[in-house]
Amino acid sequence: MTDTYDQPEDAYRLEDRPEAARAVERRIAVYWGITTVAALTLAGVYLAGGQPQFEGLLLMVALGSLGLGLVVFARDLLPGSEQTGPRHEMASTEEEREATDEAFERGEMPFVRRSFLLRMLGLAGGALGFAAIFPINSLGPHPGDTLARTSWKKGSRLVTTDGHPVHVGDLSVDGVLTVFPEGATDDADSQTILINVGDAPQKIRPGRDTWSVQGHVAFSKVCPHAGCPVGLYRSTSHQLLCPCHQSTFDVLDECRPVFGPAARSLPQLALAVRDDGFLIAQHDYTEPVGPGYWNRP
Ligand code: FES
Repeated sequence: MTDTYDQPEDAYRLEDRPEAARAVERRIAVYWGITTVAALTLAGVYLAGGQPQFEGLLLMVALGSLGLGLVVFARDLLPGSEQTGPRHEMASTEEEREATDEAFERGEMPFVRRSFLLRMLGLAGGALGFAAIFPINSLGPHPGDTLARTSWKKGSRLVTTDGHPVHVGDLSVDGVLTVFPEGATDDADSQTILINVGDAPQKIRPGRDTWSVQGHVAFSKVCPHAGCPVGLYRSTSHQLLCPCHQSTFDVLDECRPVFGPAARSLPQLALAVRDDGFLIAQHDYTEPVGPGYWNRP
């Protein structure tokens, strides 16, 4: 079957009404002018510090007027009419290919003939592209290695949440205390749980035999599963429990997870004691604290 149908030649809606066509062109130019002004204002508002609601409104106006202009252009200035035709064989005949070329060229003409509108469209698109550059600033600085560090430093005194330094004799056996580095009690990443396990036997990894002081051990309080504070200590089994999803850590085995979704141990803080008896950190944590999703390759 080689059904074909003719491309209509009557496509320009306003072909015989040049005045009306010019009025439509002016309308489209106004739409795209609005796009340009809105996009440039958007860039200005962003550079001046930003105001999310106003920026959203400007973006809506810019894209809306751009779309309106395109719709009016397609409806009134491009050739086109609703057409239906029989399904034909996949391969086109020579005549069909020529008809398609002709139709394509006819569709091109309104653009070629209306260079003013093309320039307006280019201006509007350029202004929108210009406005789109600035949100890149909002991506913020590269975090560098800040996610791998906390406020603990060599010699930082351990202090309570209200800033009191902790003395080695302050905590009774099986006692727990939330501590921070002195001067950084508002740094959530540095929150640490100090536990006095007394003389309970601990499994200690090579190189960590000097990290505890007279039965005192310290671990990050930030759960490696999803970041909740691990604050419940069961002294009978020497286990720390995260209340969010019940991850359980064995304190005597360097806080290895023994239950729940946490996949890695709570990082340990190396402790030391000063001559005046105050507990201090030997250095920062040697591994990242908190959830590890950002730390995976
Ligand atoms: S956040 Fe601790 S178990 Fe989920």
